[in-house]
Amino acid sequence: MSAAQPNASSNAVSLAIWIAVGTVALVIGIIMLTRLAVSSYGSRSLDPAAMTPEALAARIGPVAKVQLEGAAPVAAAAAAPKVAAVAAAPAKAKDGKSVYDTVCMACHMTGAANAPKLGDKAAWAPRIKTGNDALVASVIKGKGAMPPKGGGTALSDAEIKAAVEYIVAQSK
Ligand code: HEC
Repeated sequence: MSAAQPNASSNAVSLAIWIAVGTVALVIGIIMLTRLAVSSYGSRSLDPAAMTPEALAARIGPVAKVQLEGAAPVAAAAAAPKVAAVAAAPAKAKDGKSVYDTVCMACHMTGAANAPKLGDKAAWAPRIKTGNDALVASVIKGKGAMPPKGGGTALSDAEIKAAVEYIVAQSK
């Protein structure tokens, strides 16, 4: 037993030394690999051409872009407020002809429900005599078989007025 003791302890010592050496080698290896990785990455990102604002924007920019008519392409993020502003603007008022074409024509082209036809001067003459204001007023509140605003309840008074002026101009 006594002869085996030194042997066992020297085994333990050499094992400890090997573990220490292995650990140091591992740590040094990790450090060197890290430095290699950092230095190669660092030199790449320092390429001046890759660091221009344009190149940066191209790399980190959003995937989707919005192209406004006639304008240079802009990043979607920058364009968003403009798009919202356009959407918030009131819808463009329809002109007299397009109001007539979409709402009034149904009756006033065919004479349905005895509506005075567009261009029928004899039918319109006595009505035109009452004045545009009276005609606009009777369209807005409805008259006889014609529902208020001719059924185009979403139309503004100004759009009704434009449509009446269009009909009158076509029927004089
Ligand atoms: C549902 C069918 C119908 C539609 C749609 C219609 N009208 Fe009429 N409109 C009539 C009829 C019917 C009359 C005749 C009413 C009467 O004199 O009794 C009339 C009369 C009028 C008059 C004469 C009013 C007056 O005081 O003599 C004007 C102006 C007029 N319409 C404009 C329009 C305009 C503008 C539109 C579209 C916004 C329109 N109408 C849509 C059926 C229609």
